[in-house]
Formats: sequence, structure tokens, C-alpha cells
Amino acid sequence: MSAEIVKLSGRQTGQMDDVLLATGLRVMAMVSGKGGVGKTNLSANLALALANRGRKVLLVDADLGLANVDIILGLTTRYTLYDAVAGKVPLADILVEGPGGIWVLPASSGIYEMTCLDDEQRYALLDQLDGFEDRFDTVIIDNAAGISRDVQFFAGAAREVMVVTDREPTSITDAYATIKVLSQRRTNRHFHLLVNNVHQESDALDVYRRLTQVADRFLDVSISLFGNVPRDENLNRAVMARRPLLELFPDSPAAERIAELADKFLHSPPPEGLDGGMKMFWERLFRQGNNDKEGQA
Ligand SMILES: Nc1ncnc2c1ncn2[C@@H]1O[C@H](COP(=O)(O)OP(=O)(O)O)[C@@H](O)[C@H]1O
Ligand SMILES: [Mg+2]
Repeated sequence: MSAEIVKLSGRQTGQMDDVLLATGLRVMAMVSGKGGVGKTNLSANLALALANRGRKVLLVDADLGLANVDIILGLTTRYTLYDAVAGKVPLADILVEGPGGIWVLPASSGIYEMTCLDDEQRYALLDQLDGFEDRFDTVIIDNAAGISRDVQFFAGAAREVMVVTDREPTSITDAYATIKVLSQRRTNRHFHLLVNNVHQESDALDVYRRLTQVADRFLDVSISLFGNVPRDENLNRAVMARRPLLELFPDSPAAERIAELADKFLHSPPPEGLDGGMKMFWERLFRQGNNDKEGQA
């Protein structure tokens, strides 16, 4: 693993020490079984917190849902990845600048189409990704709920997967089902668990125990409790205002916790064996699609 000492200013970390951070590209797919558990809000605010810490963040909006990234961040998006895949606009033109220096890629639909390109189209698209190589070092993917083909592609290419759930039994069951399906694709063996909407810290531990009790018995996976985010009405206020919680209420309990989680993410080692930059990531996406098609043939 490549790591170097990165000096962060006191404003960014609250302390003046040098901090050992893992450098290189980090790609995290946020998934959940059930919808409405807070994936989009946590993705967007985590992205912002990471940008505040000096990372160059691309937030991929891979959900066509109602409360998607552009809505909660107050952005206007014109094109999606589909338009770039169809050759209508250059890839760089579909990126939208978000708050705090993050960039949003409205992926919505188009992932499966990307895996159906012929070689010439694929290379043309990959060529355009050259410009992304130095531009971003962190990718957060806000996925649709459930386990559609697109979610599986993204999680498979990302390698780092954050499963978001709340305390509801149905959310936990659906989170388990998601882990089960993703683990069958073999690219995902380790999962981070993020428990949202907790009243107290022990809620997260409860959820973690319930999930791992079953997973340890039936699945060949490891799950680590990444953290929790408290229920916080400020988050609803931020959604209504179409502004990120971290900007509008940076001192709120949920915002402070998300900032802590960003620190934790940066200090955790990236998974072994994940090589290459942005381009490799997209190439992994393509490859998976092609493997799927070969499997069906
Ligand atoms: N920690 C929290 N405290 C209070 N409300 C929350 C919290 N997390 C999410 N919500 C609310 O839940 C709703 C769904 O969140 P969202 O991020 O859109 O979920 P998902 O993307 O998983 O469907 C939002 O309207 C948001 O206001
Ligand atoms: Mg969402």
C-alpha cells in the first residue's frame, strides 16, 4: 500500500500534527437494501467532508430516485452519463460543480449501456477519462436502493462498499440480502456498515450484531461497523433548503459525526489489491458487463 505523510492544516483537522493518510484513489460505493435510509444525504455530506479535508472528490449520482443528489444539493443538471455514452456530449461536460469544490457526475442511467459499447466507442470514452486521472482522487457513488445490475457493477468495480441501514428490521433484512447478492459476485468480500438515524451509539452495535449473527453463519464475508449517524432534524431542514447539512449546520450532531467518519475513512487502509486510477475503475465496470454478457451467451 502506498502511503505518505500528508500535512493537513489545523483548520482542516482541528490539530496541527502531521497525519498519516493513505494516498491514491479511493472509490466507495454506498448501497442499501431499502430506500429512504439516508444514502443520498450521507453520500453528499461525506463527499463534502472529504473535500474539506483536501480530497478531490467526484460524487457519482447513480440513482434516478426522487430525492437525488442534484435536488438535495440544489444543482441543475442537464446531461447524464447516458448522453456521454451516446456520444451527444463530451464526458467532461456532464460534470456539475457542487458545493465545497466537489463535482457531481449524474450517472442515473447509462451504466449498463456503457458495458454494451463496441471497442471503438469504449476506447473513445476511456480516452476522455485521461483528463479525470489527476482531477479526482476520491469517488463516492450514491447508488439506487436494492440490487439492480447497475448497483452490482458499481459495487464490483469500487471494491469498497458501505452498506447503509437504519434500525428498522426490514432495512436490516434488506441490507443482509444486498450483502448476500454482492458477495456472490466475488469482487466484494468486505463490507463497511453505516447505521443511520440512531438514537444512541448502542443502536448501531445492536444492528451490527443482528446482521453479523446471520452473515457469519451463511455468508463468506467480513463486515465491519464503520460508524453511525444520529437522527437529527437539522438534516431534514437542510434537505428542505436544498443545501448540504455540513454547510448549513456544520455544528449539528449529524454533521459533526459525518466529519468524524470522513476522518476515519481517510485513516483506514484501502483494500488490498486495488490498483490503478480512475481509468482502471471504469475499465473494471466495462469488464464486468462484458463478463455478464458472455455468461448469458
Ligand atoms: N440522520 C438523519 N436524521 C434525520 N433525518 C434523516 C437522517 N438521515 C436521513 N434522513 C431523512 O430521510 C430521508 C431519506 O434520506 P435519503 O438520503 O434520500 O435516503 P436514500 O438515499 O437512502 O433513499 C430524507 O428526507 C432525510 O431528510
Ligand atoms: Mg437516494
